[in-house]
Amino acid sequence: MNTEPSPYVVERMSRKDVPVVAEMEKLIFTLPWSARAFEYELQYNAMAHFVVVRRRASVDPENRAKHGLGWGHEAPSRQPILGYAGLWLIVDEGHICTIAVHPDWRRRHLGELLLVSLIERSCALNASVATLEVRASNLAAQELYRKYGFVVVGLRKGYYSDNHEDALIMTTEPVCTAVYQSRFQELKTAMFESLSEQLTVSAC
Ligand SMILES: CC(C)(COP(=O)(O)OP(=O)(O)OC[C@H]1O[C@@H](n2cnc3c(N)ncnc32)[C@H](O)[C@@H]1OP(=O)(O)O)[C@@H](O)C(=O)NCCC(=O)NCCS
Repeated sequence: MNTEPSPYVVERMSRKDVPVVAEMEKLIFTLPWSARAFEYELQYNAMAHFVVVRRRASVDPENRAKHGLGWGHEAPSRQPILGYAGLWLIVDEGHICTIAVHPDWRRRHLGELLLVSLIERSCALNASVATLEVRASNLAAQELYRKYGFVVVGLRKGYYSDNHEDALIMTTEPVCTAVYQSRFQELKTAMFESLSEQLTVSAC
């Protein structure tokens, strides 16, 4: 478990989170998943790994160094959900099926925090690579993925049913290798520095 300080926690998504997640989904995506789709993933898909990010309930300086990017180890908090993400383990690939941050909370490294947690999870599940589909027009998301070593490996023509937009298929190199991990740990350290600066600002 990571122990860097952060004003946010990443926790497993629970069924109690689904109504809020489904509302955010409608706000953010033009083809939103239904609450039922999330329920199904949480209840019946053993290969699905979904998380939410919240502001940490307690960010007092004495305790915060003890906490970090947990995977099911954080005490559940009642803070509002700021973003969420999901991964399917498909054979030996960690397929990132969704990632979203509430519009009011963007550009604070929360999308990155979610992506880092899914890449770490992929590695823990012995996935070889992480992969995903992204709209050709979604440059913000593509930048995030590029930062973490995703490259375009293919195209699904007219993949999205609302506007027939193409999907880019983006994939990493193997995520558990020393080469990937070396760069990943550097990026993660920089991300936690930025997150802990937010902690300092909010403490002032
Ligand atoms: C994509 C998304 C999850 C990014 O979340 P975020 O919390 O705003 O992004 P972060 O602050 O973590 O940004 C991390 C990196 O991503 C890239 N990035 C994020 N938003 C960007 C933007 N608007 N323009 C350019 N680069 C961007 C940058 O490389 C950034 O690193 P930097 O701050 O060092 O420049 C968010 O924009 C979102 O929820 N979009 C709507 C849902 C969506 O499109 N999901 C992806 C579906 S494939």
